Amino acid sequence: MRKQIAAANWKMNLTYQEGEKLLNDILSAQILLEPHQLTIFAVPFPYLIMGNSAVSEEINNHIAAQNCYSKRGGAYTGEVSVEMLQSIGVEYCIVGHSERREYFGESNQMLADKVNLCLEYNITPIFCCGEPLPIREANKQNEYVATQLKESLFHLDEAQIQQVIIAYEPIWAIGTGVTASTAQAQEIHQYLRSVIASQYSADVADNISILYGGSVKAGNAAELFAAPDVDGGLVGGASLVADDFIKIIQALK
Ligand code: PGA
Repeated sequence: MRKQIAAANWKMNLTYQEGEKLLNDILSAQILLEPHQLTIFAVPFPYLIMGNSAVSEEINNHIAAQNCYSKRGGAYTGEVSVEMLQSIGVEYCIVGHSERREYFGESNQMLADKVNLCLEYNITPIFCCGEPLPIREANKQNEYVATQLKESLFHLDEAQIQQVIIAYEPIWAIGTGVTASTAQAQEIHQYLRSVIASQYSADVADNISILYGGSVKAGNAAELFAAPDVDGGLVGGASLVADDFIKIIQALK
């Protein structure tokens, strides 16, 4: 059974104290999760250690990094390596968020390097893809996201690709309040799964969780997550409010 995931992406928000309170408020709601359901909190680098005290005892709650560097280590001032993440017990890492691609010039090739390092160090990459508005308006979103997958993931073997979580996040829906309709999300998630099936196999495609991201809210999560190929969400704004994120976790199927 595919994992159903509610992933919070705090981005560059909250002080450590605010983050700690938010995490405690969410965890103290003690939402009963099924074995195939999990929550992931992608927190800023200096807060990752928070996970060791607050989250790691809870089997279905995990901490993620929002980014890592594409090189193994060395003279890269200010960067954080995958090995460093592993050394403090981080289990997940977002790779290729559209904000990284846009503001920090991350290419598909660089993201392929990050994915490789994550897998080598047993960190599950949450690989983001998604098209900007002009591509959607030209109805070229399928080709666009398929290329992102091909260039960053399709060098992996069957066992490796099944370690990856994919997040489809249309750029026009991120932080804008405009959410993709459930039909739009389902359509492209199904398409992504078919692209994976033709590269690998239907079984492999069926095992990979594909999250939707882009203005997921307490009020639309249940409908989005009910779509057969939507396996949860990667949530920015609404993950910063305990009550909202609690409702989003409860919307997992
Ligand atoms: P949003 O962000 O929920 O605020 O749209 C989602 C994301 O960027 O992961």
